[in-house]
Amino acid sequence: MTAPLDARLETVLSLIRAGAHADIGSDHAALPLALVRRGHIGRGVIVELNPGPLENARQAVACAGLGDRLEVRQGDGLDPLAPDEVPSVSLTGMGALTMRGILERGAARQVRPDALVVQPNDNAAPLREWALGAGYHLRAERLASGYWTYPVLRFERAEGPDPAYDGLPGDAARRYGPLLLREGSALLRQQVWADVTRLTPLAAPGRPAALELATAHAALAWLEGRTPPDPATRG
Ligand SMILES: C[S@@+](CC[C@H](N)C(=O)[O-])C[C@H]1O[C@@H](n2cnc3c(N)ncnc32)[C@H](O)[C@@H]1O
Repeated sequence: MTAPLDARLETVLSLIRAGAHADIGSDHAALPLALVRRGHIGRGVIVELNPGPLENARQAVACAGLGDRLEVRQGDGLDPLAPDEVPSVSLTGMGALTMRGILERGAARQVRPDALVVQPNDNAAPLREWALGAGYHLRAERLASGYWTYPVLRFERAEGPDPAYDGLPGDAARRYGPLLLREGSALLRQQVWADVTRLTPLAAPGRPAALELATAHAALAWLEGRTPPDPATRG
């Protein structure tokens, strides 16, 4: 019997198709098990750093009888992978800065998969910024509802500037997602309005919240097709 994936991991799964795929920080291994069972990947590598989650992943794979398709390795991030070993990698359920560190250390070892699917538990801006300098373009962005609203992003290796950002206010696009801004869903609008409500009382001039608030207003302005207010004149 297969436990259903929650909306967050279901969204991640929908963005992955590959012959071979590695899931980093798998814990319960629900995602790689579903990827194999539903035919989204042919075979997979599961990487876990910590002993408890490593054991969870080993047991889940053994119980599912999928040890011939899913190999579990202990290690830090992309370290247990050889360069070019897998064309596709996912990281889910960690902070964006932790994920960025994993990707940076991997790139330094020439582990640069063709496709990356990431679902940070917080603001995805550090991952979008990393991708802009690391030779990846955004190919898909989704928001998944759950305990929080989770961003889910698919990057692919590509040359040159990422056209996803063309014509958008840069800070707002990196913070909220260029493809999400273009889509302009009700969920994104709720998220931006929630930021405006949270940041407005904190945004005294010169404080970091003032910059974040200006970014949220720029996003709202773009969503509503109007010019953003000048922060110097906003009350
Ligand atoms: C909150 S769990 C997320 C589990 C699953 N990916 C999900 O989204 O439901 C984060 C997992 O990442 C693992 N982890 C954290 N840092 C890691 C690293 N540098 N390399 C591999 N695994 C890591 C932790 O041990 C933990 O099992």
